[in-house]
Amino acid sequence: MATTQVSHLSINPSASPQFSVVSKNPIFVSVSTFGGRKFKICGSFFRPPRSKNIILNQVTGTADLTEAVAENENQNPPIFNVPLLSDLQVMEVLRENQKCRNSKQNFLAMYSSVFGGITVDPSMMVIPMDDHMVHRGHGVFDTAAIVNGYVYELDQHIDRFLKSASMAKIEPPFDGSTIRNILIQTVSTSKCRQGSLRYWLSSGPGDFFLTPSNYMKPSLYAIVIQYLNPPDRSGVKVFTSSIPIKSPQFAVMKSVNYLPNVLSKMEAEERGGFVAIWLDNEGFVAEGPNMNVAFVTEGKELIMPSFEKILGGCTAKRVLVLAESLVREGTLQGIRVGNITVEEGKKAAEMMLIGSGLPISSVTHWDDQVIGDGKEGPVAQALLDLLLEDMKSGPPNVRVPVPY
Ligand SMILES: Cc1ncc(COP(=O)(O)O)c(C=O)c1O
Repeated sequence: MATTQVSHLSINPSASPQFSVVSKNPIFVSVSTFGGRKFKICGSFFRPPRSKNIILNQVTGTADLTEAVAENENQNPPIFNVPLLSDLQVMEVLRENQKCRNSKQNFLAMYSSVFGGITVDPSMMVIPMDDHMVHRGHGVFDTAAIVNGYVYELDQHIDRFLKSASMAKIEPPFDGSTIRNILIQTVSTSKCRQGSLRYWLSSGPGDFFLTPSNYMKPSLYAIVIQYLNPPDRSGVKVFTSSIPIKSPQFAVMKSVNYLPNVLSKMEAEERGGFVAIWLDNEGFVAEGPNMNVAFVTEGKELIMPSFEKILGGCTAKRVLVLAESLVREGTLQGIRVGNITVEEGKKAAEMMLIGSGLPISSVTHWDDQVIGDGKEGPVAQALLDLLLEDMKSGPPNVRVPVPY
């Protein structure tokens, strides 16, 4: 029998007889020796994800030493024993997972219509397994940026959210102004002044059938994520996506079915790029996985694909409005929304990605082609400045104040 050195053993006083063991490899612990006394650990054990803590559910014998030797059952491969957890144990694991979470994002508050309120405990920010958004993808979502204590373009994002819900045949549980109110209260409770507000409408929890049953109630969820990263002005590389674009019926709505978007971004990342660019079914430039694209021609015209077959980006639409001032001052000669060929796109003076998460990034390379002079272009720079200014001091129709 192989022996594993257990580095630490302690008795969990709240759930006796239960032990917490921290070990290099104690998964198959079955027999332990403490201070020369041998005793058997039997019953179930589990390791919370990403934790070194093994929780043993049942033990015969007693232990009062912090050094121990455990033996591996390498000769008879053990059966992984799945424990039945108490409510408290589940909560403990959820809390442990949050403590071990290694992410740049902080989750500050979550609203759930299933709870009927807001929680600020990230370990409680969960949704039911039987929610049709989870097991059938029957849900829609949207996102808005929180900038200096204001929600940017909240009403424009809510309009799109409700249009997506209608296309997905989800009847919201509240009217638009109540949803708006709930979202603002969630941001207020979070105390977040810089971050993002994400929200979902689902056909709701209730069962595991394919279509929603009439006893189900649609659900609304929202979360506030603190996010402090300044926009990246260094420029990015993109590749043409080999993952097929969604058909127009699904591309124009923001449903939770983002698998093609995820795979296309992963493909680009694997090739050293930032995102992949989709072409539409006729081969024209379409959009990125969570952003729109725009170009500036050699003749200083800003061109953007039309929104008939892609998501109508709130940021891109705002950029089209703000760009008018660049036409007035002569930096741009004009603005056009329509079909753009790949050839036209690749020989553009500038290419940029536009979306509420960015908000504008210059593209320096597309596939093997250098775009313009391979740096952030002057129009992209000017548009980013205009957009950042609009976020800080734009008109009331794009900035909704949060009463903290
Ligand atoms: C597929 C897709 N296109 C475009 C966008 C940009 O939209 P917005 O500017 O409203 O963030 C997004 C944003 O999430 C998206 O998912």
